[in-house]
This record gives sequence, structure tokens and C-alpha cells, in this order.
Amino acid sequence: MEGKNVFEARSLCEINDFSIEERKYLFEKTRILKRAFETNDTKTMDGFRIGDKDFGIYEVFLENSTRTKESFRNAANFQQVKVEELDTSTSSINKGESYADTFHMLGGFHNSVFIVRSKVEGLCRWLEIDSRHYSERNHLNYHISFVNAGDGKHEHPTQELLDEFSFLEDNGFDYSHLHVALIGDLFHGRTVHSKADGLKLFDHVKVDLVAPPELAMPDNYVEEMRENGFEIRSFGSIEEYLSQPDISTTWYFTRPQLERMGEQVLEKMDQLRCAITFRKEFMDKLKPGTHFYHPLPRHKEHPTIPTFLDDTPLNGWERQAINGMYVRITLLSLIGGKIGGDFVPPAEKPAPEEKPYIVEVDLSGKSGKQKDYSEGVHPIRNGIVIDHIARGDSPSEIRDHMRLICRVLHLDDLKGGDWISQGHSGETTYKGIIFRPDAPELDHKMVKRLAAVAPGCTLNIIKDSKVVKKYRLYMPPRIYNFDDLQCTNDACISHPSQNEGVPAMFYRTEDGKFRCAYCGKTHSYKEIWKKN
Ligand code: NCD
Repeated sequence: MEGKNVFEARSLCEINDFSIEERKYLFEKTRILKRAFETNDTKTMDGFRIGDKDFGIYEVFLENSTRTKESFRNAANFQQVKVEELDTSTSSINKGESYADTFHMLGGFHNSVFIVRSKVEGLCRWLEIDSRHYSERNHLNYHISFVNAGDGKHEHPTQELLDEFSFLEDNGFDYSHLHVALIGDLFHGRTVHSKADGLKLFDHVKVDLVAPPELAMPDNYVEEMRENGFEIRSFGSIEEYLSQPDISTTWYFTRPQLERMGEQVLEKMDQLRCAITFRKEFMDKLKPGTHFYHPLPRHKEHPTIPTFLDDTPLNGWERQAINGMYVRITLLSLIGGKIGGDFVPPAEKPAPEEKPYIVEVDLSGKSGKQKDYSEGVHPIRNGIVIDHIARGDSPSEIRDHMRLICRVLHLDDLKGGDWISQGHSGETTYKGIIFRPDAPELDHKMVKRLAAVAPGCTLNIIKDSKVVKKYRLYMPPRIYNFDDLQCTNDACISHPSQNEGVPAMFYRTEDGKFRCAYCGKTHSYKEIWKKN
């Protein structure tokens, strides 16, 4: 008996939205579909077709595209459904309409899947969240899904699917390991950014990053790869890469994204391009069985994979682009609920128990001697003391940080002061202390703000010269619903400069940072607050 189809009406905003098991299932189905096309097995092909003229698939491309847009259009037509495309050059987005308003309206016309490309990062995630409210208030009897077809420098999850499928075709669907060289504009290329989580598909992963410093992979993706257990090596050019013996047989090129570069990088483009362009003289250094891949397009004047390679066994990029349609047909069949009902998700591991981030310290045994907090020469009789702030930072960093804490907690208008202390004798590290005599006790919302802006601190409530309550504060798992939060990425849908009215929201990462819920940018706890 088939259970609930877990794929139906799903969105794909980042590659992590589909689990490894789900992707393996998708690849298995894609293999079957591709074989059916190759053998003219129309019965099998029909098993993938949604075949409902009222099921709407809408393409909204706010950035240029050929392969992604056309392979999706062909995939949508295969489905025998209603296929539409928004003419973004004449739409009301150009009259200042918000993305949410535009997409809600199109969703209301009985459209179920949106394929969205935009330079605004995190757009699909926002639409996925906001459209639920729209559907509810308008009593829509169908679900709306969003598929990210590339958002700025962030991610390109369906490209990641077809890249993975193509690598697998060439290694006999061996998920045990992958050694891949990523070559080119790793800074701006969203297809390589999706690989930071995408390649978790393989049990053991080794990634060689080949790019000059100006085009290097951003640190947050390198960190992500390390956290995922990948072995990482970096090289400044193809020449440097080939001067050592351990060379991959899987080469993944990305185009210099001229349209996303600043003046300074553009000026050096000839020199940078040279570092990431394959040359004839490199041929004999390649290992047998090597394949080159590229999400394409390649530049007709300056191709980093030269055209003399088209007719060689190195050419994996053409089949990779063709695979785009098969993978996308399968994805739409899954989201449309046509296939996937037999997929059994692995038993969910119980979520690790969430440790509380506001911990009240038991003071009952401390009736005897207590720590006296004093400001200057006066012991504090009533009020609050925030202790152990930014322990380990330099005094000037601690001072800056205490200014931020006072702003975030609205402590600036209260009397009191701040202090930098070296802790107990013998300690070499510094910590900050904020005193606010006679201040009222902070409410829960304020304590949550304090935990987010000063994780690791303690909050002491003093009454009649005694610490009557003491809390140890740790980083909250999620931080949202505060007006003064801000993602630092100005291309993010939640950035105030986008004027989309999207509230900032962050998740804590395993290594104690805050990741933007939309664009994925990671921040230290000091960086998520508006600067004014
Ligand atoms: C890529 C893209 O747009 O991100 N192309 C694609 O979708 N096939 C890569 C690129 O533009 O360089």
C-alpha cells in the first residue's frame, strides 16, 4: 500500500530541501525516464506525465537564461499541463510591485508550480513562506510550490541535481566517493555554491578549488564543505593544479560571471581568465577517464573549455545539459504527485534534544557569601548586571560590543555604566560587565534578545543588595520577530534596501553562527543587528 507522497507540492529553494535519500530516488526515476526516451518506451514515459490541463506551471525568469528556462519549458510541456511564462519585461514588477504581490496573484490563477530565476537571493524561500498565508486567506484548494532556478550568487539547486546525475552516470552510480575539481569563478558561481551541501550525496568527498584569489570560493561555503567532512585543497590556477600528482578525473568549470563583477575584478579579467582556461599543452597531464562538465553557457570569444575539445571523450558538458530536461521532468512529476508515492522515507532520527538557551542558576545554596556587584565605589542595591560579555575579545572589541548590547536592550537611557575586567587574578582574558542600578527586570523577549546579542553572558537581578536571580544565556536556535535584525547581504530578499518588507530571520549553525533563513549567509552574533 502506498503512503503519503512526500514529494507532492514540495518547494526546492536550496539543494538541502531534498534529502540525500530523496535525491537518490529522483536519480533512479530519472534513469528510468531517460532509458524510456532512448528506447521509445511511451508507456513508461506516460507514467511520468501529470496530464492535467488545469495544473499550472509558471516560468518567471527575472535574469537571462537559455538552458534552465528552455529545459524546464520542455519538461513542463512533456507533462501535458498548462504552461505559462511571465513576460517580466512588461510586468508590474517594473511599476514597483512587490514580488509577493506578483506571485500571489499568479498563484491565484490556479497555478501550482513556479520556476523562478532572480538576482534577489532567497526569493523562493520567502515566497514559499508567504504564499501559505495567501492560500489560506483565499481558501485555495491546491498547493503552490516554488523551484529556485538560480538566485543571484546563492544557489541553483536543479542545476545541482543534473550535475550530480551526470557525475553518477559517469561513475556507474557509485555513491561511495567523489573527487572533483571546481574551476573558474567560484566566487559568483551559484552552481558551485550548491555543491557545498549538494555533494553530501557521496560518502567521501574531496574537492579541489581551482581559482585565482579574486574568484575564490567564499569562506562560508568552504567552511560548510569542511563541516560536511569534505577534504578541501586550493590552487590558484589550472597550471598550478596540474603541477602536483593528485589530479581529479571530474573537472567542473564555471563561467566568469562578468555581470556580477565589480570594476576592479573586470579590469584584471584577461589575467584571471588565463588561470582558469584549459590549454592544449595541458592535455597529456590529464588522467585517463577524465570528464569535463560545465553548467554553460561558455563564452564564444573566451571559452574556458576550448572548442577543440568538443569532439573528444572529455566532453561531458553536452550530455550534462541534455540531462537537465530529464532531471527536471522527474522533478515536476514528483512535485505534481504523479510519481513518488512508493518512496519510503527512512525512519526519522529523533531530533537531538534542544538545550534551553536561558538557564536559571540555582542560587538556593548560596545564602552565605555572595558576589557583590558594585559600580565605582557604590555597591549595587537594586537593578541588573550583565556579566561575562564577549569574554576573550580585546578591550576595544568588548567596548564596541557593549555599546551594541545597550542599544539592542534599550539600556542607553538608563543610569549606570560599563566595565572591562580581567576576571579573577591570574586570568589573561578580558570580559565586559554592564551595570544598570534601579533598572527594571528584563522581560522574556528582552532576555531572548540578550541571549542573541551576548551569548555566554550571565544576567544578574539584584534586590536589596542580593543577587536574587541569575541566568546563564546561550545562543537561541532561531532569532526572528525583532525589527532591528538585518541580514548583511544587500542582495538578500530580507535586506531593507530590497523594500520587500521581509522580516529578517536567522538559524543558529552548528559552529555557533547565525544563518540567514533566506539567502543562507552566515553571521557572527554581533553582525545581525541594524547599524544605526
Ligand atoms: C548557470 C547559471 O545561470 O547559474 N547556467 C545555467 O543555469 N545552466 C551558470 C552561469 O550562468 O554561468
